[in-house]
Order: sequence, then C-alpha cells, then structure tokens
Amino acid sequence: MTDLEKFNDKIANNIKIEPKDWMPDDYRKHLQRQMSQHAHSEIIGMQPEGNWVLRAPTMRAKVILLAKIQDEAGHGLYLYSAAETLGKSRDTYIEELQTGKAKYSSIFNYPTLSWADMGAVGWLVDGAAIVNQVSLQRTSYGPYARSMVRICKEESFHQRQGYEIIATLAKGTPKQKEMAQDALNRFWWPSIMMFGPHDADSYRSSNAMEWKIKLESNDALRQSFIDKTVPQAELLGLTIPDPDLKWNEERGSYDFGEINWEEFWNVVKGNGPCNKQRIKHHVKAHENGKWVREAANAYAKKQKEIKKAS
Ligand code: 3HC
Repeated sequence: MTDLEKFNDKIANNIKIEPKDWMPDDYRKHLQRQMSQHAHSEIIGMQPEGNWVLRAPTMRAKVILLAKIQDEAGHGLYLYSAAETLGKSRDTYIEELQTGKAKYSSIFNYPTLSWADMGAVGWLVDGAAIVNQVSLQRTSYGPYARSMVRICKEESFHQRQGYEIIATLAKGTPKQKEMAQDALNRFWWPSIMMFGPHDADSYRSSNAMEWKIKLESNDALRQSFIDKTVPQAELLGLTIPDPDLKWNEERGSYDFGEINWEEFWNVVKGNGPCNKQRIKHHVKAHENGKWVREAANAYAKKQKEIKKAS
C-alpha cells in the first residue's frame, strides 16, 4: 500500500492520524489553519470578558469570571501545542494572527457593553462552541481530538455560569430583565454566525468532511445549537430576536430567518466593531510578556545544561 492508501485506510476506519504518521500536505495545512485559528479564538476571546473582571457585581461573580478566562487561556495553550505537532512554530502562528494572515472567530469582534453580556457570552458563545467542539472530539487528527475532551468538560461550566447570570437577571427587576434581553438581542445573530457560512458557501467543508476533520456540517451544527437554545430563552421569558423563528413540526427543528452574511464577511474581513482593538491589545500584551518567555526559555536551557553535565 502507498502512503496515501494507508492514510485513506486509517481515515476510512476511524483510526486517528498521529503527528509522526505520513499525511498529505493539504491535510496538514488544513489542520494548521483550523487549529491555529481555533487557538487564536480562545486567546482573543479572553479580551471581551477581561473587560468585566474589575466590574463584576459580586466577589463570587468575579471569581467565576476569572476562572473562566483562565480556562480559555488553557484552551489556547492546548490548541497551540496540538497545532505545533504539525511542524509549525507557535511564533509563526502568532505572527500570522498579528499580521491579519490568520483569522479568529468573528464573535470576539463585538463589544461587551453590560454585565448581562458576560451571561450572553457564556450561554450563547460557549454554548455554540460546545456544539462545535463536542463534534470535534471525533476529528481524525489525534492531538486535536484529545485536546477537545478536556476543553469540552470546561466549556460546560462556562455555558452554565453564563446561563446562571442571564437567568438571575431575567428573574430580577424589570430593568435587569431588560439588560438580559438587550444582551440576547446583540449576541444572538453573531453567535449563530460562529458556525460559519452555509454549507453551500463553505469552501473548506468538502475536504474537511472527506478527511473527517469535520464530522458534521456548519448548518447541521448551527441547527442543533438553535434547537437547544430557543427553549432555554423561552424558559426565562426572553425573546429570540428573529421574527421568522418558528417550530417546524415536520422537521422537528426550528425554522429561522436569513443570516446577515454581509455583516458576517465584513467582520471576518476585519471591519467589525472591535477587530483593530483586539489585535492591538494582543500585540501589546505579547510584547509585555516577552521577558517572561525569555526567562522561561533561559531557565529551561540552563536545566538542560545541568542535566547534561550531571
Ligand atoms: N469567524 C471567522 N472566520 C470564519 C468563521 C467565523 N465564525 N466561520 C468561518 N470562517 C472562515 C473560515 O476560517 C474560512 O476561512 P479560511 O479559509 O481563511 O480559514 C472561511 O470562513 C470559510 O469557512 P468554512 O466553513 O469553509 O471553513 P471551515 O471548514 O474551517 O469551518 C469553522 C469554519 C466551523 C469555524 C471551523 O474552522 C471550525 O470548526 N473551527 C474550530 C472551532 C473554532 O474555531 N471555533 C471558534 C470559536 S472558539 C470559542 O468560541 C472558544 C470558547 O471557549 C469561547
């Protein structure tokens, strides 16, 4: 069997592809792109929430938010480490992010304007991420699939803490309920955009599905998220901001309105409300952290020398 036949045989039999296995260059490049963009999303996603640590309404709320943000940093770490197994360095991935060559999830280019947004981010953004990431636990590349197992466990806590914030506000004073509804109004459509373009416009999906990098389509995952989330909003007496949303008995799913793809591509192309601010902040933080990386590398090098000398 040729290398390609062995590779295809493993994919067909759901045997994980490991870093040392032969793989087609295009498979490797597809994963480098997707996994590094996934990692970038985790790290950039810390910014909108970091904005509210000093303004959390209680010490408990502050501690939970800090724990969640810390988790996201860890998710970025797992994903960069998994992406590095594909033969590309973290420095290169970071440089691609900072120069705009690489993407990160569009959702993080929207501002977080109230405490209710912390709820909407956990409930909707992490809720959407869970739907996507549970599916990715079965992805064909071993390190990626394994990184998803721990990430998904932590995402469930993220989604629950977000829903708790929204539920508390929805059951609070009329003003608080209004805050929760306002956050839902601003985050609903950008959250369903997270799943990417419709399948017919998803130019990466055919390879992704053939190589079992993607196990379910963008539209299938989006639909699953909508079907899960609408009853959660209704339970709190909140209204999904989509006049075309309607339960379709025949399909056993919700029909929903047309997504504003012009807005989506505008944000993806860098013209969202916060794109420039997010990258500027990342560049500054990366610069400020340079001494930490240098110190850690110097220490590791010294330890290696001591070990070698002993
Ligand atoms: N934001 C930015 N770019 C997006 C996007 C989005 N929401 N959805 C799609 N795109 C981009 C794709 O990256 C691709 O561009 P590229 O070729 O330059 O990379 C283009 O639009 C076409 O989209 P496709 O559907 O053809 O691309 P994919 O097959 O890669 O599917 C995806 C897109 C579903 C996002 C897939 O890449 C994926 O599943 N990625 C892993 C999950 C991920 O990155 N999630 C981001 C959020 S992580 C998060 O929310 C963390 C949580 O803890 C808060």
